[in-house]
Amino acid sequence: MGLPQTVETGANVKRKRVSEDSPARTHQSQLQQKRIKLLDSRKQLPIWQRQKDIRDALRNHDVLILSGETGSGKSTQVPQFLLDQPWCGFPGKIAVTQPRRVAAISLARRVAEEMGTPLCSSSPASKVGYSVRFDESTSPSTRIKFLTEGMLLQEMLRDASLSQYKCVIVDEVHERSVNIDLILGFLKQLQTRRRDLKVVVMSATADADSLQRFFAAQILEDTQHDPKLVSSDSQADGEPEMDADDASWHGFGDEDQRSSSNIATCHVEGRQYPVITRYLDSPTEDTIEAALHRIFQIHCKEPTPGDLLVFMTGQEAIQSLQKLVEEYALGLTTDYPKMLVLPLFAALPQTAQQLIFQPAPRNTRKVILTTNIAETSVTVPGVRFVVDTGKAKVKQFRNRLGLDSLLVKQISKSSADQRKGRAGREAAGQCYRLYTEEAYTSLDKDSTPEVLRCDLSQAVLTMKARGVGDILRFPLLTPPPKEAMEKALLQLLELGALDEHGNISPIGRKIARLPLTPALGRVIIEAATPEMDCLVEVIDIVACLSVEHIFLAIDTEEGREKASVARRQLLRRQGDHLTYLAAVQACAAEQSDRRRWADDHMISHRAMQSVMDVRKQLTAQCRQAKLFTTQEAHPATDEATQERIVKCFLRGFSSNVARACPDGSYKTFAGNQTVAIHPSSVLFGRKVEAILYNQFVYTNKAYARDVSVVQLRWLEEALAGMT
Ligand code: CDP
Repeated sequence: MGLPQTVETGANVKRKRVSEDSPARTHQSQLQQKRIKLLDSRKQLPIWQRQKDIRDALRNHDVLILSGETGSGKSTQVPQFLLDQPWCGFPGKIAVTQPRRVAAISLARRVAEEMGTPLCSSSPASKVGYSVRFDESTSPSTRIKFLTEGMLLQEMLRDASLSQYKCVIVDEVHERSVNIDLILGFLKQLQTRRRDLKVVVMSATADADSLQRFFAAQILEDTQHDPKLVSSDSQADGEPEMDADDASWHGFGDEDQRSSSNIATCHVEGRQYPVITRYLDSPTEDTIEAALHRIFQIHCKEPTPGDLLVFMTGQEAIQSLQKLVEEYALGLTTDYPKMLVLPLFAALPQTAQQLIFQPAPRNTRKVILTTNIAETSVTVPGVRFVVDTGKAKVKQFRNRLGLDSLLVKQISKSSADQRKGRAGREAAGQCYRLYTEEAYTSLDKDSTPEVLRCDLSQAVLTMKARGVGDILRFPLLTPPPKEAMEKALLQLLELGALDEHGNISPIGRKIARLPLTPALGRVIIEAATPEMDCLVEVIDIVACLSVEHIFLAIDTEEGREKASVARRQLLRRQGDHLTYLAAVQACAAEQSDRRRWADDHMISHRAMQSVMDVRKQLTAQCRQAKLFTTQEAHPATDEATQERIVKCFLRGFSSNVARACPDGSYKTFAGNQTVAIHPSSVLFGRKVEAILYNQFVYTNKAYARDVSVVQLRWLEEALAGMT
């Protein structure tokens, strides 16, 4: 007798399960094959030989300071060495901080492959995830999480004890960003409360002394302050097991038992092949021209295969150079390999950033044009030639202006050496410095830590939001001048993020939860008030300000004319902010073919995709923070709404205002400095009463970017509202 179709016999079920499982099984076996293949290359890494030392160090110490050349295997291997340690427990998690999104994502991908687990899938087999601004990819089974420094600081807002982690690895500490300094301070404090928390501090430069002193001082201070914190288990651990033959191991400070039982250092020798360095005979002003010349010299004259890594200052220089290289490459005969030009800068969308990790197609040389991202943060395989302009765009606080500006500056010797090192990771290489040998000799030894040169308002707000009362006593690796801290306090007071006693206000708490600078956060909060009621629109604009420039750069007169026709419907006479809004609204309304829409309007489709992404995430965050209390969208942005939108920006950026002078120039209110409207602005060439700007950039002269027209009367109102 036949069985009814709906009844499943044991054999049926089994057969069905096997067939259902097979794609998953195939995937599993592919992951395992990849894992086994990668194991061989992992074993070649200099750090592989040191895994026992690293495990022992953390069994016996709370802090490990690990230095080692870029590419020695720190970021990928150390979390894997530690995951199975008894102190890590199950399901103890390890956090690894990274200065940049591209590094966090590519490391997570790589480590997932090395471990043979799917990346960030919801499958319980997924062990590796990442969390970067506007993109979180983790699951409950994540055990190693790569995250940007900003995201770890955000997590601390929700859980000050970081209770889900057994170990926090702070990577790229040599970069000395403000966020790194803050994290080190918080972790130091946290370790006095959580004796089970391990901290690993990793640096590409072997300058462990100051870090040792920093952690030792903290431990001394805290145990002196509170004898209860001298835990018995740390005493019981006794002296570390040290390898007597290994000269690079140090217990720290014999004179202090507490310190020596808590801090270990380890240096891993890098794998570095010789790199020939060449300099220019005489200095050059035009780095783009010099780089272009050098790239083709290498490509056409160097028979050695291998990719090129070219260090430029920023997005614009990279895009101009990319265009030139691609144009010239069209003229190459088939005797030469093809060229694949790939840009790499922070604002580039993730998918575009990840392209640099793909091997070049056959008979093709990759030419990667990068900012200092590729200096230490990411390892690009296949590079044999480095071209270094010797410059980088850095954030610098300008006292006269009272705000951060982006300046193109000479890099430090240590940065130049890191850049050079990138040519010799896999074989002997060559480094072409587009400056003279004398210029190299006169470079500063190290870069100045960000905390000494940047606006500290975000850092101070971060501290305040996490309960630091006296910020001047917060442990920082390099304490900034008192005046800089005070200036930041004042700015936060102006934004309404602190009250008159210096305590964080409800507005400040809301701002601290947004992944934005305090000024931009304040704009969002203002827009959410019932009087302003323009949050949806302001989110669209803030999304544009958070990614690469949406309008394609145009350098010819003819191109400019074409662009002004193509973009006519989007351009707003009130300035860039409302123009961005018009572009986002038009793009969102385009349902059929956004790529064509972008091409038609000479807008970067890639940038617009990022804008849409950020817009979605920011909207979700604002909804979560219950900022949407009023009407959510305006069918058409009428003039009154437009005025309110610009006024919201004025609330966050009241010190970024300049007024027109009779000679046609603009002078900033703060500092009375001459500033010109950047050519990329829709207001370029126009003269208006006063302008508000989001960025101050100094290249060959001072420029205001992301500019809108404001009326002086609005500024008076805004200032009156603050008092
Ligand atoms: O942290 P550190 O610079 O010491 O090295 P790492 O980032 O752990 O890189 C070690 C090696 O892993 C590199 O030389 C690359 O061969 C490989 N790697 C990769 O293929 N893809 C990544 N996203 C990161 C590393």
